[in-house]
Amino acid sequence: MMATPRRISYINTPSFDTNTTTYQIRHSYVSSMLHFLKRPHSLPFVLTIFLLLTWISLRMHHASKFSSSMIQTHLDSTINDDMKANLVRFKAQIPSESGLKVYRHRTSSKIVKDKRGWSLDPLSLASDSGISGGALTCASIHAGEIRPGTLRGNHRHHDCNETLVIWGATTIYRLENSNVPNVGYAEVTIGSDDVIVAASPRGTAHAIKNIDPIRSTFFFGCQDSIISYNASSTDFNVWKDL
Ligand SMILES: *[C@@H]1O[C@H](CO)[C@@H](O)[C@H](O)[C@H]1NC(C)=O
Ligand SMILES: *[C@@H]1O[C@H](CO)[C@@H](O)[C@H](O)[C@H]1NC(C)=O
Repeated sequence: MMATPRRISYINTPSFDTNTTTYQIRHSYVSSMLHFLKRPHSLPFVLTIFLLLTWISLRMHHASKFSSSMIQTHLDSTINDDMKANLVRFKAQIPSESGLKVYRHRTSSKIVKDKRGWSLDPLSLASDSGISGGALTCASIHAGEIRPGTLRGNHRHHDCNETLVIWGATTIYRLENSNVPNVGYAEVTIGSDDVIVAASPRGTAHAIKNIDPIRSTFFFGCQDSIISYNASSTDFNVWKDL
């Protein structure tokens, strides 16, 4: 008795409003779904959906934890590589908003930043940051530019220690380090927004290569003796792969 009027109203509905056909198909789908879910035999199905959602949420949680631990690992390895390359690094941007501990690590108040930009005393910054073996006084000073795709250094001075400041572009800095297995050098990439202060003790090869597509790398070098670029005091083209 009850089924008949309902059926009639259902059949009649399209003639009242032909635009709602899609809605009705969906509506009837939803109601048959609800009908199905009310039945006891839908329980495994509901449980499966529930388990699937739980699995997805756990996966997402795991993924976010995993990526933050990846970032931490990356930071730790950056600090580690910076130490092997005997340098300290900070962000040029103002304020220092990176929030990444690598850039605060071992740096000090010797870096002055204000709205004009940054400035620093490389020698006291190096000694305050535990970077040793560089020049402690400057008998000669070199400053210059390294254009995209070009290289400076790749040499080994036997008669001077050197303290370097490098910034301005994506740049590879390589320092000879016999403690690094196989290759015998430490290598870091300096970001275009990074400034590094590095020490290269006498008898240690170093190289600076600009790998930036557009920007120039700038450097400042302080040497504790007058560099002579003759063959007995400097080895040239130390690495062939640069
Ligand atoms: C370079 O550093 C070494 C070791 O710290 C030091 O003995 C030497 O006097 C420094 N200067 C030169 C020009 O070698
Ligand atoms: C090479 O440089 C060293 C160190 O400055 C100097 O003592 C030596 O006389 C130079 N040799 C030549 C051939 O110029």
